[in-house]
Amino acid sequence: MQKPVHVGIIMDGNGRWAKQRGLIRTKGHLEGLAAAKRIVKAASEIGIRYLTLYAFSTENWKRTAEEVGFIMGLIKQYLRAEFDFSKKNKIRVRHAGNIAGLPLDIQKEITDTIRDTADFDGMQVVLAINYGGRDEITRAVRKFTADGKDAGELREEDICAYMDNPDIPDPDLIIRSAGEYRTSNFLLWQGAYSEIYISKKLWPDWDKEDLQVAIDDYMGRDRRFGSVANQE
Ligand code: IPE
Ligand code: IPE
Ligand code: MG
Repeated sequence: MQKPVHVGIIMDGNGRWAKQRGLIRTKGHLEGLAAAKRIVKAASEIGIRYLTLYAFSTENWKRTAEEVGFIMGLIKQYLRAEFDFSKKNKIRVRHAGNIAGLPLDIQKEITDTIRDTADFDGMQVVLAINYGGRDEITRAVRKFTADGKDAGELREEDICAYMDNPDIPDPDLIIRSAGEYRTSNFLLWQGAYSEIYISKKLWPDWDKEDLQVAIDDYMGRDRRFGSVANQE
C-alpha cells in the first residue's frame, strides 16, 4: 500500500515520562514539545501531506490550572518559535478544535500563524487544540442550522462540509503513543476507517524511526472499507 496521506497522532505519555524520572509533569510536556518538533520534521521528510497533532483535548481542562497554563504557554511558544522552520520547509499550519474556548492570546497566535503560513505548499500540520470529536460534530450541526438549513435534511456530506477543515482528507493512520487503547475523543468522525497504530513508547521518546515503523506497519495492512479483499 502507498504511504499514508494523512497521519493523526495522539501524543500521550508526557506525564508518565516525567514521573519515571522523578520530575514534575510539566517537564514531560517540555520534552513532549521537543518530540513534536522532531516528528513534524520527520513527517515532512518522509513526505506525509497532512499531520494532525492532538495537543490539548476538550477534556484536558480538568487538569490543574498550573498544568493547563503551562501547556498553553508551550503552545504559544511553539507557534511563535517555529515560524522560521515552517517558512523554510513550506509548512502550512492549521487548527482543529473550538478556538473560541481558548485564551485570547492563544487565539491570536493561532490565527496569526494560520494567516502567515496560508500560502505554504509543503506539508500541512493541523494542531488540534481544545479539540474534541464530539464537540466538532456538535459545532458542525450548529453551523449547518445557523446557515438556515433544515436539520431534517442533514446528510453525512453536510457534516463533512461543516467540519473544522473540510478540505483535508480523512486520516489514513492514527497513531497513539504510551499504550492506551482508546481514542480519547480524537477525530471521531474522520477516523471511521482510519488504521490504528498503538505504541507503548511514551511520547517524549518518539523520533523519526518510531514514525517510520508505524508507517511501515500501516503499509502492510489491507484496508477493506467494508468490502471484501481481492474482489474479482
Ligand atoms: C499527553 O501527555 C499530553 C496532553 C494530554 C496534553 P499526558 O499529560 O496525558 O501524559 P500521561 O498520560 O499523564 O502520561
Ligand atoms: C489524549 O490524551 C489527549 C491528548 C493527547 C491531547 P489524554 O491523556 O488526555 O487521554 P486519556 O485521559 O488518557 O483518555
Ligand atoms: Mg495522557
